[in-house]
Amino acid sequence: MAHGYGKTALVTGASGGIGRELATVFAEHGYNLVAVARSADTLQGLAEELYDAYGTTVTVLPKDLSKPSAPQQIFKALRSDGIHIDVLVNNAGFGAFRSFADTPLSRVTAMIGVNVAALTELCHLFAGPMIEQREGRILNVASVASFNPTPNAAVYGATKAFVLSLSEALSEELKPHNITVTALCPGLTETGFSKAATGKSGANPAVPDFMKLDAKQVAREGFDALHAGEVIKINGFAYQLGVEWLRYTPRFVARTVGGMFGKQLEDGF
Ligand SMILES: NC(=O)c1ccc[n+]([C@@H]2O[C@H](COP(=O)([O-])OP(=O)(O)OC[C@H]3O[C@@H](n4cnc5c(N)ncnc54)[C@H](OP(=O)(O)O)[C@@H]3O)[C@@H](O)[C@H]2O)c1
Repeated sequence: MAHGYGKTALVTGASGGIGRELATVFAEHGYNLVAVARSADTLQGLAEELYDAYGTTVTVLPKDLSKPSAPQQIFKALRSDGIHIDVLVNNAGFGAFRSFADTPLSRVTAMIGVNVAALTELCHLFAGPMIEQREGRILNVASVASFNPTPNAAVYGATKAFVLSLSEALSEELKPHNITVTALCPGLTETGFSKAATGKSGANPAVPDFMKLDAKQVAREGFDALHAGEVIKINGFAYQLGVEWLRYTPRFVARTVGGMFGKQLEDGF
């Protein structure tokens, strides 16, 4: 039995990587979709692909989520089209793997805009109708970087710590309203993320293959965790062990190791 028959999931960052795979797994399970990202043509292509494969209705909303007006515009457009969102997937996001001082300020503010401000605003906007409906699900894509400071990707790690903290708190607040909130925490995943974070493509020999996750697998695990009502889902056994290690490790050790790894990631992964 399909999970999503007659239901609609909104996926941000659906044009590539984990978001595209999330959109696909929702379509496979009978959901209709609202797809948000900047790349209008890519979203349109995805919409046609998913319609042909699964008969999915995909509403394409090209938006730049670093613009403060974008979340309200999305909410109003869906309201006026009478589209109710049953599942909100806040996946859009990006990083910068370089020193804080060398990261252009415009990139820092855009990162906070997409990873933190837009995600928070979308949670706030869509939680209201979910509360009225007495049902809903929210999947926020955080990261294993949520669990530890990340020198050389300082703002990125801080944005993802925010996403984890917000998601855990909301999972408690919204539980009485029959709304689940899940933070999906992938480790390094092979998508367009590394190129966007470093400007470099190609594998980095300093990063072993076992550390690289598959986007389709990450998305499927996220979909399952969301429907199981799990609050935190860490993808990959190596990363689950790593996060467990952090629980018993003094913070000065954790941030020193994080800094050494962060330096390696300047060349991508
Ligand atoms: N890949 C990893 O190693 C990894 C690890 C942990 C967590 N994550 C998280 O996973 C999520 C998805 O990343 P990914 O790995 O799939 O990277 P990706 O392949 O680069 O995809 C990022 C998605 O976000 C969208 N996006 C970026 N900036 C946007 C903006 N200003 N407005 C609207 N959409 C925007 C992109 O679409 P457009 O370019 O078309 O706008 C794209 O669809 C992110 O939140 C990321 O932080 C990734």
